[in-house]
Amino acid sequence: MSAAPVSTSEASGDHTPDHIAIIMDGNGRWAKARGLPREAGHERGVEALRRTIEAAGDLGVRRLTVFSFSTENWRRPVSEVTALFGLLRAYVKRDLARLKREGVQVRIIGNRAGLPPDIAELVKRAEEETAHNERFFLTIAFNYGGREEIVRAVSSLAEDVAAGRVAPSEINENTIESRLDTSGWPDPDLIIRTSGEYRISNFLLWQIAYSELVFVDVLWPDFTIEHLKDALETYAARERRFGAVATGTA
Ligand code: IPE
Ligand code: IPE
Ligand code: MG
Repeated sequence: MSAAPVSTSEASGDHTPDHIAIIMDGNGRWAKARGLPREAGHERGVEALRRTIEAAGDLGVRRLTVFSFSTENWRRPVSEVTALFGLLRAYVKRDLARLKREGVQVRIIGNRAGLPPDIAELVKRAEEETAHNERFFLTIAFNYGGREEIVRAVSSLAEDVAAGRVAPSEINENTIESRLDTSGWPDPDLIIRTSGEYRISNFLLWQIAYSELVFVDVLWPDFTIEHLKDALETYAARERRFGAVATGTA
């Protein structure tokens, strides 16, 4: 048996989520509504991300994970994929110094093998240069798929079992968790998805077992601190039970 999913915020009795994860959806529709190319929506999406990182920190959230590019987003036109990779490159180049200065630790999750070498190098540098920061923790899920992450984790465990380094009887939730890209991080307390879609789209499948879900009917480029505050209020009014009996009825 592994430990129950304990959330830092629950443990402290505080109703602000410690870790929020956001599916930043709706850039394409935002652009289409204005007669602009989809790429313009993605550019405005980066501005919404900057606002949200700042707002989350101001509102007492310590960890933020954002979904930027999924393993399924390769199905989009090459021009759009290229633009999305270009935006990650530009974002890290432009914002790294400030993130460093502001005490933000940056981590990128997803399949690195699928990244162009210069982006893989840039991402590694961003992680190394911010590794000692502890004021705020930012994870960018890029070329990320929940199933793909689990496959990599299980495959690395299987290699250790085949080599005799791990016994099958030693495999439990903790050993699998330790092989995930998110290893060592608490699970998200709250998942927010924008754009009015009600699905997970292969985001953090293992980690969201007990996350609260909030769906916001606003396109990501229009997401503001007010939307974030509303989502945090919705979260604060929820009662998390982790499979136990509701408080007050035990
Ligand atoms: C989210 O916006 C960004 C990515 C998935 C990369 P979309 O590009 O999915 O926007 P819509 O859903 O088409 O409006
Ligand atoms: C999820 O959005 C992925 C990201 C936000 C990066 P999608 O727009 O790709 O999801 P679907 O295709 O509508 O489910
Ligand atoms: Mg979408």
